[in-house]
Amino acid sequence: MCGIVGYVGNRSVVDILLDGLEQLEYRGYDSSGIAVMCSDDIKVYKAVGKLQNLREELRGHESEFTASKMGIGHIRWATHGAPTVLNAHPHTCTCGNLVIVHNGIIENYKELREKLSAQGCVFRSQTDTETVAHLVARKYAECKDLTQAVRLASEEIEGAYALCVMHNDCKNKLVITKRNAPLLIGIGEGEYFAASDVPAIIKHTKKAIYLSDNQIASLTPDSMELFSKEGEKIEPKVEILPWEPVALSKMGYKHFMLKEIHEQPDVIRNILVGRLHTPDENIILNEVKLNKETLKNLNRIQIIACGTSLHAAMIGKYIIESFCGIAVDVEASSEYIYRKTVTDEHTLVIGVSQSGETADTLTAIKQSKARGSHILIITNRPDSAMAREADSLIPVNAGIEVSVAATKSYIAQLMAFYLLALYMSEIKDSIAASTLTSLKAELMILPQKIEQILARKDEIQAVARYYANTKDFIYIARGINFPTALEGALKLKEISYINATGYPAGELKHGPIAMLDETMPVLSILMNGSVYEKLLSNSEEAKARNARMIALTNSKDEKLEDLFEHIIRVPDVQELFSPIISIIPLQLLAYYIAEFLGKDVDQPRNLAKSVTVE
Ligand code: G6P
Repeated sequence: MCGIVGYVGNRSVVDILLDGLEQLEYRGYDSSGIAVMCSDDIKVYKAVGKLQNLREELRGHESEFTASKMGIGHIRWATHGAPTVLNAHPHTCTCGNLVIVHNGIIENYKELREKLSAQGCVFRSQTDTETVAHLVARKYAECKDLTQAVRLASEEIEGAYALCVMHNDCKNKLVITKRNAPLLIGIGEGEYFAASDVPAIIKHTKKAIYLSDNQIASLTPDSMELFSKEGEKIEPKVEILPWEPVALSKMGYKHFMLKEIHEQPDVIRNILVGRLHTPDENIILNEVKLNKETLKNLNRIQIIACGTSLHAAMIGKYIIESFCGIAVDVEASSEYIYRKTVTDEHTLVIGVSQSGETADTLTAIKQSKARGSHILIITNRPDSAMAREADSLIPVNAGIEVSVAATKSYIAQLMAFYLLALYMSEIKDSIAASTLTSLKAELMILPQKIEQILARKDEIQAVARYYANTKDFIYIARGINFPTALEGALKLKEISYINATGYPAGELKHGPIAMLDETMPVLSILMNGSVYEKLLSNSEEAKARNARMIALTNSKDEKLEDLFEHIIRVPDVQELFSPIISIIPLQLLAYYIAEFLGKDVDQPRNLAKSVTVE
């Protein structure tokens, strides 16, 4: 992951870099650093941990850099080398004349490091990035042209990278390039910005250029030149970013995660706007280019995603298979990309990604596109790399999600699947008209049902306190809520670091039951429907092993009182829509446990929101 920023212009650079990095903190917070061009020399400042530590590190040094008008910055999610000051970016060449920030992974860094060490380069860190600093410096020593040096170095680098480079010899020139990692240029008046993502520059400009792979740009305050990997000049394609600067605020909530959980009813309403007006009308999905002919030619659907998006995808499979009768496979992107997959022009490939930038999913999408599949992307970022690969697109309109643990984007992804499945079933004529109408009517009242749960969040908070000191947690469910069990467990482990696992309840007896005793909480997602009785039996089996039983249920069944120590009640809902309802208490449970334990809820350790490395 990591985030990079760069600036060259006429304003004092440090605040611009720090503001930009703050907007990119979702990409990592293991360390941060900046390098600024001062009149005599490049100066580098770094700190371990959150950006705030770098701000403190800079205090007292202001006189060194107030006049500085060019610089680069980095926020790190450690891949190679522990999060220490030495491993923090920017990295320098042996003499310190060249500095570099990098997002990505240099795959051949070991070979490069050996070669460069043999040539006399002195390595100070354990990072892959430092090899690039030395390599570009070597090339620069030969050709005395920074742009050319970056171009020549990129020919020898394997892997993924977005790079910003400065050299002491070029007092007002920044050189940037990328391959398989995001990077854009912001165009201001007498100034240029470089950044991994829009939020870092949107405060300053809406005019931007998304760099394509292997392009190299050379930026000075009043000029920008773009080159191909062969060194030929290219005409840049300037875009106007469809973004407004947003002041991200917790709106009185203690954490962004809690605020985002509360936004979910509105997220559902937003995604329905313009797509579902009344239960009697057809679903409108303008950016989806699937017609009767395309659907007839499909023999399967493959959904690819990571993390929380993967859980949404798993539920998507249930929904599409139930509504449309088309076979659906779901796979983690990282597993999909390194095997021989049976994907061709008769496969609809759906990529699901909040950020639209996750490296594994992006690679998987590119692979399936090359095999001729129709690519449909469900994303919260219609301006992302994945959206650019899409034949069909469903923007989920969840708004910026700040908390690293995804909540509202998950609900929005589920809604996208409901809309898509209903849309396809209308084209395919796979559901009776009266059933379709009642499904759509229920979809439209889901926000009120979530509001009812949120209104009783104190009850969930009380349950959370009761279980907060447990070391392990098991979630069980069956059918369409099995992915809910996985997602509930993921939320808990992400933000509280409790060892939580989701199981299909029928599998409990094939191994996990051995772990049960009077210390183990087992939360059963017991929603009315086809598997209710089966899950009840599985819960009895767990109770018989003395587990601490919790039910999350919409059932009025009185016998639950004897079986469960705690019961979290939710409004009734058709089984097919129950994942939308059942996840809300699980998000709240995870939140309140983490909050009670005093964890860093919005920025949990070791995680990042956008994962742009494989
Ligand atoms: C990271 C985040 C998760 C997210 C996953 C996939 O691991 O911490 O919350 O679910 O990436 O991200 P995407 O943007 O592709 O949905």
